[in-house]
Amino acid sequence: MATDISTSTHFMPLTFAAPDDGAINIQLITPDGCDAALAALPETQRAWAFHHGFAGALAQTCTLPNPEGSPARVLIGTGTPADRLKKRFAIGAAIAGLPAATYRLAEALAGQDGAEIALGYLLSLYRFDRYRPQPAAAARLVAPDGIDAARLEHIAAGEALTRDLINTPAEDMGPDALEAAIRELALGFGASVTATEGDDLLKRNFPLIHTVGRAGARAPRLLEMTWGSTGPTLTLVGKGVCFDTGGLNLKPGASMGLMKKDMGGAATVLGLAHMIMAQQLPLRLRVLIPAVENAVAGNAFRPGDILTARNGKTVEINNTDAEGRLVLADALAFANENPSDVTICMATLTGAARVAVGPDLAPFYTDDDTLAAGLASAASAIADPVWRMPFHAPYETMIEPGIADLDNAPSGGFAGSITAALFLRRFVPDLPRFAHFDIYGWQPSPAPGRPKGGVGQGARAIFEALPQMLRMT
Ligand code: BES
Ligand code: MN
Ligand code: ZN
Repeated sequence: MATDISTSTHFMPLTFAAPDDGAINIQLITPDGCDAALAALPETQRAWAFHHGFAGALAQTCTLPNPEGSPARVLIGTGTPADRLKKRFAIGAAIAGLPAATYRLAEALAGQDGAEIALGYLLSLYRFDRYRPQPAAAARLVAPDGIDAARLEHIAAGEALTRDLINTPAEDMGPDALEAAIRELALGFGASVTATEGDDLLKRNFPLIHTVGRAGARAPRLLEMTWGSTGPTLTLVGKGVCFDTGGLNLKPGASMGLMKKDMGGAATVLGLAHMIMAQQLPLRLRVLIPAVENAVAGNAFRPGDILTARNGKTVEINNTDAEGRLVLADALAFANENPSDVTICMATLTGAARVAVGPDLAPFYTDDDTLAAGLASAASAIADPVWRMPFHAPYETMIEPGIADLDNAPSGGFAGSITAALFLRRFVPDLPRFAHFDIYGWQPSPAPGRPKGGVGQGARAIFEALPQMLRMT
């Protein structure tokens, strides 16, 4: 299974420019402060800004000329706080969209808003150019004062990795290529990788990963990466379904179209792992990724089959399209055998989660109120929206059909995201703190800092919350 590791992922650096004496000043202007700011300008510049109707609206941009016609400074509107909540990263994206030159911010950035502007700029540099050259952003921004530039660059690099992995189609991002991508990531940070592949999955007791993935032309595998030698322990588990046809319960074409992104959980935990390792957080990290294709073939698993998971629980297959929870069940049971201080699972698990909260919010489940509160506040600090959902115990009976311990796809279709989360929780009874994210992993239409395509969800919020979560501070 030869995979060209050098092309398994592509990396366009999302970084700030070096300090530059010739950089053009950018002045950020609020709607309220606009009149005063314009009044303070030289008369020709004031007249120019007035003529262009500059009012400090969100991402409104106005380049002011010197008498000889060269750019004197750039005004960018910040809009109101409410405007910025409606459209995160708009200011950073406006900076990245400026004409070719090097720019600097006239004043230091501060607080959450400052970090959002700087991160928005970095994320706006992302291009997916593996299959076709894409023109890079022409504007370069000098690392602003008042923010931790290196940390934001690590975050942006992790996000770029996530997007590249999701955007790469299944033909080039099968279980083998996903393994190559993990090995490449590990190599960069001195992490270790082990892969359990094909029939070895049966020998080492990962029956559900094998059964779901055995119909794929590329062998199913469990990928494990470990990094760090001291500090609290963190385990990340990511759904790595490289393509989800639905299996014998074949998805209709319209539902299958985007299913290259069904390894979005894996891509997102790998992006998060990149952030953690690049930032050298003092923790011990373990990443577990069941990597499979949910394919159609003569040896595919069938509706009605009853399978026995790693932990001995029997699962009746009511729908082969509910495959994510099956491969995660074995990976989570494995994680449960060696409990980490915190365990986080990320998966493009259900369509029901999309119906509930749409593509922009990452719903998550946890029994730990402190962890949930930490995630919620971190999410708003780093502009990565998440929303807590309930492990509603009365729905447990929906995943207990009768002739097996569990049903992978309760009939009725009520509360699909909750019942999937409850299913996963059955495999982690011994973990002290566990959270599961049911993400979408896809930006359906372009937004500032997020072109249409693969996108990380929740990783930045988790990264921000980790010190508190793991009591590292
Ligand atoms: N990968 C899908 C879930 C999905 C679909 C996520 C579309 C994002 C967008 C998952 O494997 C799946 O097919 N889930 C089924 C479960 C059902 C059969 C119980 C679903 O959500 O329809
Ligand atoms: Mn499915
Ligand atoms: Zn799936």
